Amino acid sequence: MSTTTEGRPKGRVTTTSLAAMKAADEPIVMITAYDAPGARLADAAGVDVILVGDSLGMTVLGHSSTLPVTMDDMVRATSAVCRGASRALVVADMPFLSCHVGVEDAIRNAGRLLAEAGAQAVKVEGGVGIAPLVEWLVQAGIPVMGHVGLTPQSVNVFGGYSVQGRTFDAALHLVEDCLALEAAGAFAVVLELVPAELAQLVSEELLIPTIGIGAGAGCDGQVQVFHDILGMGTFTPRHARRYAEIGAAIESAIASYAADVRAGTFPAEANYSHLDPEVVAELERALPMTGDEE
Ligand code: KIV
Repeated sequence: MSTTTEGRPKGRVTTTSLAAMKAADEPIVMITAYDAPGARLADAAGVDVILVGDSLGMTVLGHSSTLPVTMDDMVRATSAVCRGASRALVVADMPFLSCHVGVEDAIRNAGRLLAEAGAQAVKVEGGVGIAPLVEWLVQAGIPVMGHVGLTPQSVNVFGGYSVQGRTFDAALHLVEDCLALEAAGAFAVVLELVPAELAQLVSEELLIPTIGIGAGAGCDGQVQVFHDILGMGTFTPRHARRYAEIGAAIESAIASYAADVRAGTFPAEANYSHLDPEVVAELERALPMTGDEE
């Protein structure tokens, strides 16, 4: 794999380039995207990984959790993202229950995200319990990113979206989850809403990269939700920083468009075309106007 002097991959980012980035202490940048324009912009901005997160259930589809997201939703969004991204590694989320009914079902579903939609890897939520499945997927040729800590698909088990791994037992459990995922062949692991000290410890313990969200600065990389950092959501979670106010910009632009239509100033001459006057005359002769009738 060829890298720049800073350790960032020059060509298409692969799962192995991420390992090299960890070795070179080069921070991995990951962001979610759900469509081709979003992926094109993230790719042009130079992110390393684009995650087609099942957060699309909330950011794009208007649900209040990720649970209603289906395999078909994920395949459609992932195909669009893959058409927009040419450098970043595209990782697609395995939605709720898409890998818990049986290994065969899980491999078929994960396979769809690679073969049908074009992703290079999948992400699954869970630790020790899901490790045997991760092993099956990797053996089937499907690279897997793990996801531990606050796993949003288990929101009803957790009873809310709160920081995980706060006690000694919970922290130890989380370390075991990460080690099990690594042993099963996962190429990276997302740490969501984990105390910074624990995330740092896990990052030092693991050979594979950790990607944090609300897990402090000690992870090997960071992931954020597209809509959260661009000011396009209904609120900004504590773990996000708003880098733009795109939602406000869109609303103001649409209001200007509506005002122009209502004032008769849009469309203007530059926005449409004209018929040749001879064609107009011919049409007028061929189509007697109702207004002309006596
Ligand atoms: O679905 C998603 O966007 C995610 C990230 C928050 C890691 O899983």
